[in-house]
Amino acid sequence: MRVLVTGGAGYIGSHACLSLIEAGYDVVVVDNLSNSSRESLIRVEELTGKACNLVVGDINDINTLDKLFRGHHIDAVMHFAGLKAVGESCEKPAEYYRNNVAGTLTLCEAMARHHVGTLIFSSSATVYGDPYTVPIAEDFPLSATNPYGQSKLMVENMLKDFVAADKINGQPSWNIGLLRYFNPVGAHESGRIGEDPNGIPNNLLPYISQVAIGKLDQLAVFGDDYPTADGTGVRDYIHVMDLVDGHIKALEKLLSSEDAKGCHVWNLGTGNGYSVLEMVAAFEKASGKSVSYKIVERRSGDIAACFADPTKAQQELGWTAQRELSQMMADSWRWQENNPQGYEGD
Ligand code: NAD
Ligand code: UFG
Repeated sequence: MRVLVTGGAGYIGSHACLSLIEAGYDVVVVDNLSNSSRESLIRVEELTGKACNLVVGDINDINTLDKLFRGHHIDAVMHFAGLKAVGESCEKPAEYYRNNVAGTLTLCEAMARHHVGTLIFSSSATVYGDPYTVPIAEDFPLSATNPYGQSKLMVENMLKDFVAADKINGQPSWNIGLLRYFNPVGAHESGRIGEDPNGIPNNLLPYISQVAIGKLDQLAVFGDDYPTADGTGVRDYIHVMDLVDGHIKALEKLLSSEDAKGCHVWNLGTGNGYSVLEMVAAFEKASGKSVSYKIVERRSGDIAACFADPTKAQQELGWTAQRELSQMMADSWRWQENNPQGYEGD
């Protein structure tokens, strides 16, 4: 079985390549390296002893995709390629719609031309907007408050329309899993691959790690007046290795049975929420480093609390997150400590 992994050199994609290979799949990666480097896949190859078959190219490039589908027998696609920074998406919306929406359409058209119908798509809990309550189940109302979120919602709707058209045409061809990630953190336990953000990190865990290693001075905690236990924002942090295990389970489900044909939505979260201050304390405990912080104004667009109801993935995929917060922190720190300059240091 061979899986095309778009965006496979990135944070989640590189961990997915590792887990796919370990589960016995062959992988082919297409990545334009706009937010990653070859080094992540070189390390996956070192860890697994197998090739990742990287094609450097853009998912918007029809010729690259056609050549790739012609040259390899692809059974399924895991689609991670895209841009993911909320703030940047407000400044450069066209880039988000081109990469995330048009790119996915171009990919799907290539899949259709080459008769590949099995697709796992990286969606996000951002599609729930500001939820009316938590935990969040898959049937909650959907909305978007920024171009990044809008791009995820547009792709979800587009993929649902493809499946609906199959029903009208009477020929099931698509077999799609929309995976809504909560907050992926952590790294492979080897400390060889992990998250390597460009410039100053936007997300909490990479920011905390860089304060702990001395690259940044102090964490700004965005608000302590939310209606949460300690007033800081609460999120559902999920270990990236659990997240990619969820992908393998979803892929197995899509490939295993005819009744899997259609469009399925699964939350990938732990069901537990932790506040920013709980995260700081847990990181300090795991690393033995102190993390200086100060409370500042709320960040515009942030919500108070967001965590998953993961029951559907548990019932339908037999998947639940296994790794505790302490392991997420220990693995994040091992990656940061061993690779203070990310992949650049190599
Ligand atoms: P990442 O930036 O590390 O990985 C994305 C990869 O896609 C990069 O290697 C980048 O070079 C590549 N890429 C971008 N545009 C491309 C294009 N047009 N053609 C080919 N390659 C392209 O991000 P990540 O954290 O690994 O996220 C993977 C996916 O998961 C993204 O779609 C993201 O929106 C989604 N997601 C991420 C999070 C998160 O917090 N990390 C949360 C929810 C959803
Ligand atoms: N936070 C800080 N200081 C920081 C960074 C974050 O206090 O420097 C706080 C935020 O206010 C929030 C929590 O830490 O309460 C988590 O923030 P992140 O930026 O790490 O994550 P978000 O939940 O805001 O967003 C992430 C991704 C989005 C995705 C969303 C849901 O960045 O792309 O999870 O999956 F849509």
